[in-house]
Formats: sequence, C-alpha cells, structure tokens
Amino acid sequence: MIPLRTYLNPDEMPTHWYNVVADMKNPPAPPLGPDGQPMGPEQMGAIFPMNILEQEMSSQRWIEIPEEVRQIYALWRPAPLCRALRLEQALGTTAKIFYKYEGVSPAGSHKPNSAVPQAFYNKEAGTKKLTTETGAGQWGSSIAFAGQMFGLPVRVFMVKVSYEQKPFRRSMMQTWGAEVFASPTNLTEAGRKALAADPECQGSLGLAISEAVEEAAADKETCYTLGSVLNHVLLHQTIIGLEAKKQFDKLGLYPDVVVGPCGGGSSFGGIAFPFLADKAAGDKRANNLRCVAVEPTSCPTLTQGAYAYDFGDASGYTPLMKMFTLGHDFMPPGIHAGGLRYHGASPLVSQLTHEGLVEPLAVPQLATFEAGVQFARAEGIIPAPESCHAIRAAIDEALKAKVTGEEKVILFSLTGHGHFDMASYDKFFAGKLEDFAYPAEAIADSLKHLPQVG
Ligand SMILES: Cc1ncc(COP(=O)(O)O)c(C=O)c1O
Repeated sequence: MIPLRTYLNPDEMPTHWYNVVADMKNPPAPPLGPDGQPMGPEQMGAIFPMNILEQEMSSQRWIEIPEEVRQIYALWRPAPLCRALRLEQALGTTAKIFYKYEGVSPAGSHKPNSAVPQAFYNKEAGTKKLTTETGAGQWGSSIAFAGQMFGLPVRVFMVKVSYEQKPFRRSMMQTWGAEVFASPTNLTEAGRKALAADPECQGSLGLAISEAVEEAAADKETCYTLGSVLNHVLLHQTIIGLEAKKQFDKLGLYPDVVVGPCGGGSSFGGIAFPFLADKAAGDKRANNLRCVAVEPTSCPTLTQGAYAYDFGDASGYTPLMKMFTLGHDFMPPGIHAGGLRYHGASPLVSQLTHEGLVEPLAVPQLATFEAGVQFARAEGIIPAPESCHAIRAAIDEALKAKVTGEEKVILFSLTGHGHFDMASYDKFFAGKLEDFAYPAEAIADSLKHLPQVG
C-alpha cells in the first residue's frame, strides 16, 4: 500500500543543490550587455553581490547548501510528497498521481527556497538593504520573511493589479517588516514614465523589476533580488526535485511525467532538473521521462514566444538574456495567476525547451480553476491559481491514462496554497472569470521591439 504522505527525516534533507548547467548539451547562452557583448560578474556587481553572481555563472554540478540556510529550511523542509489517491479515484484513472507540496513554507509557496539563500548570501556580502518586485505577492512575502530572518530591510514593488487583488499579501510582507509599494510608483524614473503614459497602468512584472533594479543600482549598499528566471534561483529551487527523488526512492517508484507551472520557471526547474539529471546520467528509469512546463494561454511565453535575446524588465535596465519571450514591453492581461504574468522565461528552462527536453503546454484560465476546485474537493488543499495550471495538466494526463489503461506515475508541483487567492475563486464561482488567448498579431507586434543582437 502506497502511503498518502511520504516524509523524509530532517537528516535526509539534501545537503547540496543541483546545477543543471553541468549536464547541458550546449553551454548556456551568456547574458549580454548593452553593447551586445557577453557580460561578466563585474558588470552585474552594481545590483547583485559577488557570491550570488558566482553561483549565477557556475557550471559546478553540486553546490553545498550553507548550514545557516539549512537551519531555516528546517522550519518547513523536508516537504511532503503526497499521493492524490482521492483525486485518482474521482477521475477513475489507472494513473498514480503524486504532488510535492510546497505550501507548507511560512509564505505558503516554494519561493522561500530561494529567498532564504538570497538573503543569506547578501548578508554575508555586507548588503544593507534589499529591493525586489513581486507579482502575485508570493515572492515579495518570501523575501520579506527571509530578510527578517537575517536582519535585512526589504523594499517591495508589487504589481498594481495584484496589490489591489491581494491586500493580505501586502499585510504579510508588512508583518515580516518589509515596505511595499503598488508598481508603477512615483519613486523611480521607470515608474514615473509608465504613469505618464497611462495613469491607470495596472503594472507588470517587467515594470516592477525595472523599479526595483533602478533603486538597487542607485545605491551601493542596496542589492536587488529576483524570485525566478535567473540560474541561481532555479539552482536553489532544486531542493524540491531532490527531495522528491529521495521520496520516490523510498516508495520504489519513478515518475513518467513531471509537471509544473511555469512563470519565470523557478519551481518548474526546481522539480524537473533533478530528474533531467538522471536522464543525462543515462538512468534507464528516466529514458521516457517527460517534463511538462505549464503556462497560461493569456501569457504564452514558451508556446508562442520567440527564442531570442531580450531584456528581463520593461525598461531595458537588465542584461539581455536568451530566452523564450513575448517581448519586454508585452503587457499581459490581469489574469488571476499573477505569478505567471511574465513576458520571459528562465534562460535555462528556455534552452532545455528549445533542445526538446522540456515540453511546453498552455492552458486557459477557466480550465485551471475547474481543476483547482476538483483537486480541493478531492484532496482538501486549496491550490494557488498558479499551481492550478499544473493540476490541469496532471488531471489531463491522468484522463489520457484512463483511456489507454496505462499505470503512469504522474508527479506535479503543488507550488503553493491559495488562501490569499480566494477573491479569484469568488470570481470564478460568480462566473466573472474569462478565458483569454493572446492574439497572435499582438504578440507579433510586441516581438517587433526585441533588441537587435547578433
Ligand atoms: C504559487 C506559485 N506557483 C508558481 C509561480 C510561478 O513562478 P515560477 O515559474 O518562478 O515558479 C508563482 C509565482 O509567483 C507562484 O506564486
């Protein structure tokens, strides 16, 4: 009998993060500066401390998790691997569905897995203040919590649409001692420009990044932190997949499909990369492994974007990164999975998608909420709207298995709970949510503004 929950003992928590760069067929495309030339750590030192930049550029396969970070991880990790037996029964599927539950963290999602080490490395490097942006509020609350753990003040630029939809996320950040502003603000040049163009601007993750980067660049003692996209963030998140592998070992099972929601790509990389490591090492169990990255049809970066160099923010302050992108000035609609409203995707996830190792999938908003409600009614946990994207894809995989009678093992990442997202659920129940497929012409238009490189 497979247990409903598989735990690890505290001393079984992984001691090292896994760096997928060590196993990639082609080296990652380097970030480029404004002159189109590859950028080294020195040039990015204005906004990040050197110890983090070393990780960002590293190709070392295993990187030790500092003891101070492990002590804070131990507040909620190891996280459980759960079997969704009641969901399987409700679907009548022959598949076995498992989920790795990251909602047990203080902030309620996977984001503290990177917030804690980022705060730790900044503290170690002598940084006096952190700035960041947040979409859904998950990253902002995570870095607020992590800053508090290491005594670092935190300033958060929160995308306006989420600031208004999720006032309690703001209160959470304030409880952990952070300052929070609805972006665009009048505090930065980037914010003032956006407001001058459109006083009602709802903001975007790209714009909030510009504000946070601008502040960090203007002050030597302030550094910027990013909750997704960059290599070091995905590195930290591999604790998810590394734990899940140990838990599957205990069960004597191995997944056939690994599914995760994909915004910037950090939780997806976190759960998928350790399994891709097995594939790279020639582990037979991973021969037919599929890794599915799920995004909204309203912000279809991996499925409809271009694989090209682009800025990570709306104003062109960040280095150019080679990634799937919808164009840095792409303004996604105000959908209710705020964490998936980003024009780009992690360069690592993008490259692996381009090389065929990651399978991208776009799903519409209403179908994700239907899946989230079905999951909550079977399993009890109310998922974050971002996580509902993975649930949709996992349910569809299970329904396909039902037709073929396959005993497929499906693993998905339940990246967070939805306790601060109930206003979105209310709208769903009231029939006020809509599907939105971004028109191909609008995407093509936005892609016309990609920077010309190479
Ligand atoms: C619960 C949850 N899941 C997933 C995501 C997507 O981010 P990423 O792709 O970096 O994991 C977010 C982003 O805020 C989130 O809050």
